[in-house]
Amino acid sequence: MLISGLAVGAAGATGYGLWPKLGRYEETVAQQRTLLSTNPALSDLVGMAILAANGHNTQPWRFYLDEQRVQILPDFSRRTAVVDPDDHHLFVSLGCAAENLKVAATQHGFEPRLRFIDSHEPGLEISLDPNGIKTSPLYPAIPLRQSTRSVYDGAPISAEDLQRLKDAARQDGVSMLVFEDRADLETILEAVIAGNSAQMDDPAFISELLSWLRFSPDQALKTGDGLFTASSGNPVLPSWIGERMFKAFFTKQSENDKYRDHVRSSSGIAIFIGDEQTPEHWARVGQSFQRFALQATLLGIRTAHLNQAIEVPTVRTQFASWLGAGARRPDLVVRFGRAPTLPMSLRRPVSDVIIQRA
Ligand SMILES: Cc1cc2nc3c(=O)[nH]c(=O)nc-3n(C[C@H](O)[C@H](O)[C@H](O)COP(=O)(O)O)c2cc1C
Repeated sequence: MLISGLAVGAAGATGYGLWPKLGRYEETVAQQRTLLSTNPALSDLVGMAILAANGHNTQPWRFYLDEQRVQILPDFSRRTAVVDPDDHHLFVSLGCAAENLKVAATQHGFEPRLRFIDSHEPGLEISLDPNGIKTSPLYPAIPLRQSTRSVYDGAPISAEDLQRLKDAARQDGVSMLVFEDRADLETILEAVIAGNSAQMDDPAFISELLSWLRFSPDQALKTGDGLFTASSGNPVLPSWIGERMFKAFFTKQSENDKYRDHVRSSSGIAIFIGDEQTPEHWARVGQSFQRFALQATLLGIRTAHLNQAIEVPTVRTQFASWLGAGARRPDLVVRFGRAPTLPMSLRRPVSDVIIQRA
């Protein structure tokens, strides 16, 4: 009752309709999501990189800047050990950030070259050679892309748009399968529900998730990270009420019902599969996904993850066999379709993620 009362009471109060005025939250989002002016510093490019998708919005990265070189290194203090015990999502997230940085650097006259640093401290290194050519069609989408976790309109995507998405996702070492057939989507939904049910039965999963939820704009602003409820289409609440409501209303049944609506209203589902199960290939998957999502954004197509199907090992094995993935691991499950946007997620300040070295 409280949830529906708040939602109805707040309707129409903002451009988003369902949420009370988000005030300073929206101002901060607007500041963070502004395209760069000419001749940006490397730290400005980092500001674009960190707008990338990343698991639970933990922002598990650190950036080391050199003259014309950026290293994107893992921040293992931000790992999510329960949902991501082998740091798969963490390295996918680094790949997403690297791709945003490459796209932004290209727009600003650099030729980015990426290599994987395969040392005791693995990560990604992007060297930036000035070349004066300033075209990067995906660039305007960087601040506009979001994970839109809502019901979509269910309409099919044109063959032309689908081809653009496939072209954008093309990446050495990564395949993307696209499913639009309703029977296939139902099979994928079964895997999502199996994974979600296992996760909802796991107190460690719930407690890890809860630790990254942000129920109010103030709570989200304080940390600059995590999953702000409004960004998932849920009500804004004082954090102490939010935690109680979460425990009372976040059930296996309600979540599974939500995913049924989400899958059945989507135009299709894309599955990303790396050739190898290594951090380097996981980062490549991130690059491929990030370009897919940027291209989708330019076409007015929304995307959201349904990774439950690949996060629970037993479910993933069965799912991989249905996909015919052989020994490869399905890395990401992403639905797409059309829907209005939701409030954008926040990031920590750039200065918090840049590191100095001795
Ligand atoms: C590797 C990876 C895994 C993710 N898994 C999920 C997921 O299972 N469910 C979900 O709703 N979002 C998932 N996301 C989306 C993130 O939660 C999202 O990118 C983050 O909260 C930042 O929000 P934004 O994408 O709107 O900028 C995932 C993103 C990445 C990169």
